[in-house]
Amino acid sequence: MKITSICCLGAGYVGGPTMAMIAAKCPDIDVTVADMNEARIAAWNSDELPVYEPGLDEVVASAIGRNLHFTTEIRESLAKADLIFVSVGTPTKSYGIGAGRAADLRYIEGAARLIAEVSTGHKIIVEKSTIPVKTASAIKTILSANSSEDATFEVLSNPEFLAEGTAIEDLQEPDRILIGGEITVSGNAAVEALASIYSRWVPRERIITTNLWSSELSKLVANAFLAQRISSINSISALCEATGADVDEVARAIGTDSRIGPKFLKASVGFGGSCFQKDLLNLVYLCESFGLPHVAEYWRQVVHLNDWQKTRFVEQIVRTLFNTVNGKRIAILGFAFKKDTNDTRESAAIQVCRDLLREHAHVVVYDPQVSAEQMCSDLIAAGVSEALLDSNFDVVDSPYTAAEHAHALATLTEWDEFRELDLEQIHSLMLKPAFVFDGRAILPLEKLKALGFEPFMIGKGG
Ligand code: UDX
Ligand code: UDX
Repeated sequence: MKITSICCLGAGYVGGPTMAMIAAKCPDIDVTVADMNEARIAAWNSDELPVYEPGLDEVVASAIGRNLHFTTEIRESLAKADLIFVSVGTPTKSYGIGAGRAADLRYIEGAARLIAEVSTGHKIIVEKSTIPVKTASAIKTILSANSSEDATFEVLSNPEFLAEGTAIEDLQEPDRILIGGEITVSGNAAVEALASIYSRWVPRERIITTNLWSSELSKLVANAFLAQRISSINSISALCEATGADVDEVARAIGTDSRIGPKFLKASVGFGGSCFQKDLLNLVYLCESFGLPHVAEYWRQVVHLNDWQKTRFVEQIVRTLFNTVNGKRIAILGFAFKKDTNDTRESAAIQVCRDLLREHAHVVVYDPQVSAEQMCSDLIAAGVSEALLDSNFDVVDSPYTAAEHAHALATLTEWDEFRELDLEQIHSLMLKPAFVFDGRAILPLEKLKALGFEPFMIGKGG
C-alpha cells in the first residue's frame, strides 16, 4: 500500500513536530495537521509557532505550503488521508471510575467516531497518543461499528519517544521507531507501509515491529523506567544531604557501570512533563484492573517519591527562612518542567510556587520562555485563588529583577543561562542572609559560599 496523503489529528507538542519532520523528509507525501483549536492552528501558520523547540522553525519552514498544512478543517482532512495519526490529548481522568489514575479516552473515542463517519476505502489509523493497553481494539470496534460498508481499517500503535527540548534531534535520529500491528496479512501490510515512511531517514534496523499490545505497553514501561531512575536518584539525594555525601558524585560513580549507564541520574526538585506521571498512573491503574495490586503499589511509589521531593524542597525553604516565609520575597528562576521548552505541564514549579503562596510568601518568577498567563492559569488550576495571585505573585523579565530585595532565590528549571548568572550582582541585590535553594544543582556551590550566600543544593550535604 502506497501512502500519498497523511492527516494528523492534534497539532500539539507531539503532532506538530512529528508531522513537520515527516513532511520535510517525504516531499511526495501530502501531510495535513488538523486541530479544532483555531488559535493553535493560526500560530502554526504564523512566524510564532505555538511550540518552542530548538530547530523546529527550520523544519516547519522547509515544508510548510509545499506538502505540510495546518488546518481546522478536520473532516475534510481525515476524509482524504490514506493514513491518520491520532495525536489528541489523553489526560488523567479527573472524575468517576479510575479518577486520578486512568487515562481519559474521550478525545480518542471522539476521534475514532469521526474517522468512521467520514471514511471510505481503506485507511490506516495510527495511535500516536499514549493510551492504555488494548485501546487499539476499542478503536477498531468503534470504527467497524460506525463506518460505511466500503470502509476498511487497520489500526497501528506507533508510540512517540521524543523528549521536549530535543524533539527535533529525537525525530531526526531516533534510538528506535516502534510499530505495533495485528499479525495478519493486512496488519503486516499496514506496518510495512508505515515503516517505509520512517525508513526514508531512519536505518531499518532501528525500526522495531511487534504486536499491538506489546507496542502499547512498551511506551508506558519506557516512561515508567525513566521516571523510576529519577525517583531512585532523588531518594538518594535526600540521603546525601543527610550524610554529607554528594549525589552528583554518587551518580557519576554508579553511572560508569555500563549496566547502569550515566543518563537520567540527575537529581532534581522532581520530574514533570506531560508523560511521566500520567503514564505511571496509567500503569498503576492497568495493574489494579488486572488484579496485580503488588505491581501497582510498586510503581505508585515512584510517583509518591516524586511528590515528596517537591514537598520537602518547600519545607527546606520555610525551615531555613526561620520557619516563616510570610511576606518574604522569594525569587523563583525557571517555571518550565525542564530547560529548552515553554511547556509547564506537571512542572515541579507549580507545586513549589503554590505551596509557597499558601505560606503567604511573595513569589516572583522569571522564566525565559513561559508566559505570565500560563503560570497564572497553572497556579489557578492547582488551587491558588486569584486574590492570592493578585496580591502575592509577580512575573518579571530578568533574573536580576527577581532577585531585587529577595530573601531567597530558588532555581527550579536548569536553563543554561542560570549557569552564567552574575552571582556577585545577584548577591548585592538580595537581602541578607542571601539564601539560595538550588533545585537543580546547577550553581557553583563553592563560589556561592565564597560570595557570602547561604546555599542549599539538592543532594549535596555538608
Ligand atoms: C498528546 C497526548 O497528550 C499524549 O498522550 C501523547 O503521548 C502524544 O499526544 P501533546 O501533543 O503534548 O500530547 O498534547 P497537546 O499539546 O494537548 O495536543 C493535543 C491537541 O489535540 C490539542 O491541540 C487539541 O486541541 C487537539 N484536539 C484534541 C483536537 O483537535 N480534537 C479533539 O477532539 C481533542
Ligand atoms: C519524556 C520521555 O523522555 C520521552 O521519551 C517521552 O516520549 C515523553 O516523556 P519529556 O517529558 O519531554 O520526555 O522530558 P524528559 O527529558 O524525559 O524529562 C522529564 C522530567 O524529568 C523533566 O522534568 C526533567 O527535568 C526530569 N529529569 C530528567 C530529572 O529530574 N533528572 C534527569 O536525570 C532527567
